[in-house]
Amino acid sequence: MDAQFDVQSLVHTNALLNGISVIFLGLGFYFIKRGEWKKHRAMMICALVASGLFLISYVIYKLNSGFAQFGGEGFIRTFYFTFLFVHVLGAIAIVPLVPITAFRALSQRFDQHKKIARITWPLWMYVGISGVMVYVMAVHLYPYSGG
Ligand code: HEM
Repeated sequence: MDAQFDVQSLVHTNALLNGISVIFLGLGFYFIKRGEWKKHRAMMICALVASGLFLISYVIYKLNSGFAQFGGEGFIRTFYFTFLFVHVLGAIAIVPLVPITAFRALSQRFDQHKKIARITWPLWMYVGISGVMVYVMAVHLYPYSGG
């Protein structure tokens, strides 16, 4: 087994970590809507850890292999790249938003936390879910077969 194979397999790890963070985000939302802020805090910290691990794994993957190429043709190709573009824009936007949101909560500025969280949470959720969808489309449904 050569090292390159290991790096390629990170594409699955990335999607898994992404999926895990979506589950924690969902639970975090559920708990704050029930007023259980300690459970909300725990879930959001788990989401932060899963997303942090995802970022590390993603950077290692990207530095060692290019983009997972998309093999679909015609309409699905246009759809995929448009979808991917919006996903990437969202991903760029949450890079500052997530730490700012967490920082406001951890420094107990909950009014300000709530304000920004109303943007951060749905955007983060969207980026997570669309990330899993991009993975399923590019790696499983329409893999690039070369040539
Ligand atoms: C980046 C991570 C986080 C996100 C995306 C997030 C998201 C949210 C969301 C969506 C709400 C509900 C806002 C609403 O009612 O419309 C909320 C409220 C709240 N969050 Fe977080 N949260 C995060 C981290 C934390 C942490 C770490 C803590 C604890 C230190 C925390 C404590 C709270 C509290 C106390 C509220 C209720 C605020 C209020 O109703 O005045 N959150 N958060």
